[in-house]
Amino acid sequence: MATTARKDTTAVLEERDRQRRRTAERLLASSAKLSFDPLKDVDWASEPVPGAYYITPHRISLYGTELWERLSEEQRIELSKHEVACVASVGIWFEEILMQMLLRHAFDRDPTTAHVQYALTEIADECRHSVMFARMIAWMGAPAYGPGRLAHELGRVFKAISTHSQTFGGTMYVEEILDAFQREMTADESLQPLSRQVARIHVIEESRHITYAREELVRQDLGPVRRRVEQLLMGIVIHVATTHLINPRVYAAVGIDPKEGRRAARRNPHWRAAKTEMAAKVVGVLDRAGLVGRTNRWLLRGAGIV
Ligand SMILES: [Fe+2]
Ligand SMILES: [Fe+2]
Repeated sequence: MATTARKDTTAVLEERDRQRRRTAERLLASSAKLSFDPLKDVDWASEPVPGAYYITPHRISLYGTELWERLSEEQRIELSKHEVACVASVGIWFEEILMQMLLRHAFDRDPTTAHVQYALTEIADECRHSVMFARMIAWMGAPAYGPGRLAHELGRVFKAISTHSQTFGGTMYVEEILDAFQREMTADESLQPLSRQVARIHVIEESRHITYAREELVRQDLGPVRRRVEQLLMGIVIHVATTHLINPRVYAAVGIDPKEGRRAARRNPHWRAAKTEMAAKVVGVLDRAGLVGRTNRWLLRGAGIV
């Protein structure tokens, strides 16, 4: 009996390794075929197009509020610029966390495997993305707002101690949210060409990262107790990442008091609906991986994504 069970477990683990290898080989081949160098592939010498938004107006956190109605067209465009710059700076915060988590993942594994080589390739991608986002923020003449002090410090702890589920669950969550916003940006030809090009590069390379994280997530099985703990921690990660996407300091750029802006955005049904829509797909995947449940649904609701 015991021998049969052991044989079964070995067979399952071997199959898992085969799947891992196949996925990584496919992703490595795709990276070799289509990767970007943002220092060369973005026209940094171009000027912003007058009158063009940086993101579609209905994805701006104050869209549809009373405060929005009070803004002139120029101020609305200015706010769109600061919100895109802010999300990019939060993107850098998360990519730096992710790079460290992936390095920890690679550190304990065999570097000759395709799986580890893809982890290293992804780190290289994220490294270029962070430089690209930083350049875009500077090109816009906006500050690197970041997610705020508390989220910054929580990130410091998270990147050092995250478990396998949190590494890939957290990664997938942030990547999917950014991906959903950026896919819309690439499709909207009325937007600033430079922020669209940055979005396009990111969308193409991130689709591989999302596959890598998703397959790692669904491959693992968690016991009932462990599952609850992972759900709770996952809920905290999702809550922090979502509620810190827009730093209230952006509102000051258009003469709105940051506290008043934050309050209006929090109550804004359009902004809540935008977040729910952008998170729908990834919440579904996390749910299938057993990472959404009673333990964290209240945190997801609090973040405005369910
Ligand atoms: Fe990235
Ligand atoms: Fe990524």
